[in-house]
Amino acid sequence: MTIAEKLPLVCPRCRSGLSESNAGSFDYKCEKCKVSYPAIDGVPWLFRYPDAVLAQWLSRWQQFRAQLSARSSKLDQYLKSELLAPTRVRLTQIQVALAHNIATLESILHPLLDRTPADGSNHLLEKVSWTQHFDSYFNNIFRDWGIIDENLASVNFVAPESQKIEGSVLILGSGAGRLAFDLQQRWQPEVMYSLDINPLLMLLQMQMFSGKSVELYELPRPPRDAEHVAVKRILKAPAMRSQNNALVPTQRAWHLLADARNVPLRDHCIDVLVTPWLIDIMPDRFDILARRWNRLLKIGGEWLIFGPLSYNTSSFHNDLTSLTETEIAATLESCGFQVSEVKSNRLPYLSSDAHSQKREETVWLFRVKKIRHEKEPPAENVLPEWIMHADRPIPVEPFLMDQLGTARLQAEAISLINGQNSLQTISMQLAARYGVPQNIALTSIQNLFSSLIETRFGSFR
Ligand SMILES: C[S@@+](CC[C@H](N)C(=O)[O-])C[C@H]1O[C@@H](n2cnc3c(N)ncnc32)[C@H](O)[C@@H]1O
Repeated sequence: MTIAEKLPLVCPRCRSGLSESNAGSFDYKCEKCKVSYPAIDGVPWLFRYPDAVLAQWLSRWQQFRAQLSARSSKLDQYLKSELLAPTRVRLTQIQVALAHNIATLESILHPLLDRTPADGSNHLLEKVSWTQHFDSYFNNIFRDWGIIDENLASVNFVAPESQKIEGSVLILGSGAGRLAFDLQQRWQPEVMYSLDINPLLMLLQMQMFSGKSVELYELPRPPRDAEHVAVKRILKAPAMRSQNNALVPTQRAWHLLADARNVPLRDHCIDVLVTPWLIDIMPDRFDILARRWNRLLKIGGEWLIFGPLSYNTSSFHNDLTSLTETEIAATLESCGFQVSEVKSNRLPYLSSDAHSQKREETVWLFRVKKIRHEKEPPAENVLPEWIMHADRPIPVEPFLMDQLGTARLQAEAISLINGQNSLQTISMQLAARYGVPQNIALTSIQNLFSSLIETRFGSFR
């Protein structure tokens, strides 16, 4: 039996079963859509438009690497100048750590970086949210595989008893993977699927599950003291032993790179679904997620929602969608679930001993049972049709019109820069052209240039 036949994997486009492209190649194919889905280091890459998503992650890697290299070049410059001895020591430590981290990340990511997306793949066909980057959850790596106490508190909160689960477990948004690992050890399910959208976290998770170790430097900003400027962490899973002291085979854990909004698994194949620290960061409305994930569970199957309820990024959570626990419970009841348990606790969050600050969060656990099937909501496009399809007319959107005045003023002010003009002379020209008082024109362009510098460089130092 091939892996594709053994696992309930489906095509992310049409949900038909997948076959292996070539026996043992770990690449998958949908005969109906005639689309091939690669496997990255053995992990199925099951996105609707696999090349579009690959192109985005490759470009995000280039950006992330460029940021690390820019920091490193700045350090080079500083180190060539006159410095106090302790400052030289600190900057040299950061310099060494950055070089090590870049090389290590490249080696973890090489199965991804070796890939080339097909020419002309339109990256907008399937957009990875702009909030997801290589460094979005970088510190979770150290928390998961370097600092033990916080992880124990999490697994004890989610699964206080080591009860064996006969069946399948799916962890969505499993990140660097420590909770998935601990749950696998505690529950020993027949099979566990661990899914995430971030290739760095998933490839590192794979290494941890297979018992390998990875060395990375934690670079806390700000560090606790001079001893903790760059702390080398040896990341490794604790011994993989079950209660009766037998090794728990990790072959029963399958890793998937996919979008949690379109899980490439057959309907009703999961006994226990876990979403740790996920609903708070997803841009989607909670009722839509609940209906979407209802599809995956068997009747009587359980869903454990763990983490905060809302992470307040103004871009996608507003007064209507930032729900409290009572609203979450009511929403669940209306989406085919029965709530069995709700509890909360204040748990430490990323409280590294190297960092000068500590964070604590109110986290929740909802244990709910699926009692009826629900119709899955249709897939939503993150972007409007007129961006996805370049030949469609662009509607007169108020948010675009709001930008018009600013964009024109900015373009004109920049076009008047010639090495001679000052803000004063530019504002006089703009004031005359638009019939506004000169002090108003001056204030607007001062604001424009200062915000341009702040968004581009953070500050001008
Ligand atoms: C706040 S982190 C939580 C990680 C992990 N569950 C934990 O508790 O440490 C959110 C995780 O969701 C993943 N994620 C974000 N959007 C996703 C999506 N659309 N599909 C799958 N995973 C996603 C991120 O890559 C990240 O690993």
